Amino acid sequence: MDQSLPELSSNIPNHVAVIMDGNGRWAKKKGKMRVFGHRNGVKAVRQTIEAAAEIGVKVLTLYAFSSENWKRPRKEVETLMSLLASSLRNEFSSLQKNNIQLRAIGDLENLPSKAQKELQEVIEATAQNDRMILNLALSYSSQAEIVRAVQCISKKVVNNELSIENIDKNTINNHLYTFSLPDVDFLIRTSGEQRISNFLLWQIAYAELYFTDTLWPDFSKNDFYEAIATYQKRERRYGQTSEQIL
Ligand code: IPE
Ligand code: IPE
Ligand code: MG
Repeated sequence: MDQSLPELSSNIPNHVAVIMDGNGRWAKKKGKMRVFGHRNGVKAVRQTIEAAAEIGVKVLTLYAFSSENWKRPRKEVETLMSLLASSLRNEFSSLQKNNIQLRAIGDLENLPSKAQKELQEVIEATAQNDRMILNLALSYSSQAEIVRAVQCISKKVVNNELSIENIDKNTINNHLYTFSLPDVDFLIRTSGEQRISNFLLWQIAYAELYFTDTLWPDFSKNDFYEAIATYQKRERRYGQTSEQIL
């Protein structure tokens, strides 16, 4: 056991979301191509999944590819897509072994058919697993997700399936890709950037935010535990005073 592991209390965030950023800069620092960084990011993904499951996180959402990332050079996009397909294949047995259920959010129809197929296979095969949900955000845009929800809700209103007065927070929640998941408790972004980049805008309304300079391929289990230790020192007040929540 690593002696430097931080002590964690029983206050484990239910839903952790991670913006896995910094692969390109990691590779550049080593004088390599950006795709070298992506390949080396896979290990950090595995470490994070294991660490989250080990401490009892219930939902782990990983931002793997944004809708905006389609604008990257074709070669880079192709490498990312084939890495996705091969990682799904390689990690399948360890997801099963660890009782982890895979899900995906985003405009999945934009993914190459090979990646879609691998994804669907693993999603179906792990559907009964109940230790943790691993939720991959792929071709994901939070604004597009909200637009889609508004379209669905409007259709129901027009068809007299829903009345305007009955639209509330739950209606919105129920029409997002994340409809069955709890709100995000803790959002981690690596690489030093301090922005949200169109990720889960609605779902992070009251999330605690954590930014670390560590570049994604260097992000280890210990880094994850340290982030959780920081979360545990925060006081989530939800608009109330400190005295009220004690
Ligand atoms: C994150 O690393 C991976 C994806 C966005 C797919 P980047 O590729 O964004 O790496 P940087 O930010 O350019 O260093
Ligand atoms: C956000 O990272 C998307 C993912 C981590 C998949 P980016 O590197 O694409 O974000 P920006 O462009 O720096 O905001
Ligand atoms: Mg980036």
